[in-house]
Amino acid sequence: MLRTYLTTSWQLRYPIIGAPMAYVGRGRLAHAVSEAGGLGMIGIGSTESVDFLAREAGIARGANQQRYGIGLHAWAIQQRPELLRAAIEAHPWLISISFGSPAPYVETIHQHGIRLATQINTRADAQEAVQAGVDLIVVQGTEAGGHISGSVSTLPLLQSVLEVVKVPVVAAGGIASPRGVAAALAAGAEGVWVGTALLASAECENTEQARARIVEAQEADTLVTRVFDVAQGLAWPPQYPGRALRNQFTQRWHSQIETLPEAKEARQELAEAVASKNYDLAYIYAGEAVGVVTQQRPAGAVVRDLGEGAEQWLRERSRLLLDPPPGSA
Ligand SMILES: Cc1cc2nc3c(=O)[nH]c(=O)nc-3n(C[C@H](O)[C@H](O)[C@H](O)COP(=O)(O)O)c2cc1C
Repeated sequence: MLRTYLTTSWQLRYPIIGAPMAYVGRGRLAHAVSEAGGLGMIGIGSTESVDFLAREAGIARGANQQRYGIGLHAWAIQQRPELLRAAIEAHPWLISISFGSPAPYVETIHQHGIRLATQINTRADAQEAVQAGVDLIVVQGTEAGGHISGSVSTLPLLQSVLEVVKVPVVAAGGIASPRGVAAALAAGAEGVWVGTALLASAECENTEQARARIVEAQEADTLVTRVFDVAQGLAWPPQYPGRALRNQFTQRWHSQIETLPEAKEARQELAEAVASKNYDLAYIYAGEAVGVVTQQRPAGAVVRDLGEGAEQWLRERSRLLLDPPPGSA
């Protein structure tokens, strides 16, 4: 058993949080991750309804009253405070507020007995979040799939944040195998927050075609871009681009994104591609660790493998690295 804040204080079987992933990570995925011994989260996108949130929260909780979390975007709840109210009403174990400051919401969330996490992308943001009273700091490096911010990757940011932050820290971005989990824990993180690792699982709301692309993709097949947000007319602030698989749409538009708002045909083409599951044009958000995702497996199997595998790997490595070989004095 791995002993970290997440397994002792939160009593999770594994120090693994299934990242909130709007539009693909819903109740089903959150339930499967929690049932396997991690903490599953539902991602709530800016366009989703409060009824949707309540329904997916019910699925995540399930008949066996599983713990789960709900992930919100700070900029979205500024425009639609009803999303935060609905999340609080669902009474999850954890709420995360990322992509903007969580500070205005700390008091209300704590008043309802709910823990608060936030993803940060700089050391200064981590310190601000701690100051504001956030319970769990999620260090998100630029390797991460989905929307990100800043320019620092997971390991340098993790090292820097762990030096100055005393509240529990988990690592997000680029972790999709037991080796990655072991590395984050060895560095001092209390756990990991994984998204891409779960994208090829059937409990994720990805299409079969998208799952196949994820399994095929290699580590260099992603890029950070705003083309999909701009083409869909989503209100993501420009400082939060997203990491997605490269395809013909990104090849065509990434370098001339300024002209995309006027390119009605391209926007129509993207909408049609999404509807017809044509991923030569449609988006699949995924991180660099997509290269480590080589098969479609149930989310529970992924979580168990990450947790059990990390424990085994840490034991093996520490024996090799630290114990003297037999015969040496
Ligand atoms: C498809 C996808 C959707 C995401 N949506 C959200 C989201 O709605 N809210 C959020 O806070 N983070 C979101 N993220 C970012 C994750 O929380 C997390 O930072 C990331 O998945 C970690 O890196 P990894 O993908 O390498 O595991 C998303 C990530 C992916 C891959």
